[in-house]
Amino acid sequence: MSELLQIGSPNQRPRQPRAEDLKLNFSEQGVKDLAALVSHYPNKKACILPGLWLAQREYGGFLSGEAIAEVAHRLERSYAEVQGVATFYSLYNVAHQPGRHKIELCTCLCCHINGAWNLRDRLVAKLGIRHGETTADGMFTLEEVECLNACDRAPCMQVGSDYYGPLTEESLDALIEKLRNTEESTVVQYAADVVKVQLRNGEI
Ligand code: FES
Repeated sequence: MSELLQIGSPNQRPRQPRAEDLKLNFSEQGVKDLAALVSHYPNKKACILPGLWLAQREYGGFLSGEAIAEVAHRLERSYAEVQGVATFYSLYNVAHQPGRHKIELCTCLCCHINGAWNLRDRLVAKLGIRHGETTADGMFTLEEVECLNACDRAPCMQVGSDYYGPLTEESLDALIEKLRNTEESTVVQYAADVVKVQLRNGEI
């Protein structure tokens, strides 16, 4: 079995709450934003992806079973359908509550050739976590990802809405320190940015 197949927790799935336990936790703004998003589409089914981004913002960066159930309820779809979408795309956080900052390190070809594995090893040693894991203090989640479409900046990584590269061991250390001192969750901020773009009604 390859190293990549041995690490991570790819089979964890959110759990559906019992119907009587369903709680609606979207904020007032979240409810308004969902209505605005729905108005962009011919039907509610077509709004599942934006609805999940909104839920990722509203639920602190994590699509728990409760978050997925709320999206399903508000869009009048089945839980199974919405969970199937949420667990298909790696940008949705469904395995567990991510850290305040999710480090998505590209280890694809260009980044690999330019030293991504050294950076990966440095992160593992520095943070004490491996692919798919979160530090005990809830600060960082580490994920190895495929090409971020920024090969000209290899080796690179994404944290929230920002790309960083080309990275060196020194710039990686500096970035980790900067993130440690960043109070705001870049995971939630990223979801908020995606929702903001989707709400712009086609304007760029
Ligand atoms: S290979 Fe890393 S961004 Fe393309």
